[in-house]
Amino acid sequence: MKFKLFDSQAKVKEALSHNQPRLIRAGEKEICIVRIGDNLLAFQNECPHMGEMLHRGKINYLGEIVCPLHTFRFNVYTGEEVNQRCKSMKTYAILEKPDGIYIEC
Ligand code: FES
Repeated sequence: MKFKLFDSQAKVKEALSHNQPRLIRAGEKEICIVRIGDNLLAFQNECPHMGEMLHRGKINYLGEIVCPLHTFRFNVYTGEEVNQRCKSMKTYAILEKPDGIYIEC
């Protein structure tokens, strides 16, 4: 399913501060989105390790999301935990269309 998130890239920049994770709901799913520079990324909000909410985490200097509970680090593009200590988090495609920015989930 596709859900419209924003009307344009300009609205993304207005709404999301650089490197600040945000919780959104798309249908039944809780998803964490974050803008890193010009890139909008989306991934599951529930940490694959023990379920902490990743939107409470921080983006480090490498552009990884760091879970606040046990500081596991996940690649926001591939979903992999960088030291492979747990399974990968699910990532979601962001689609730019003429009428807006969508998430596919
Ligand atoms: S719950 Fe996220 S690292 Fe443990």
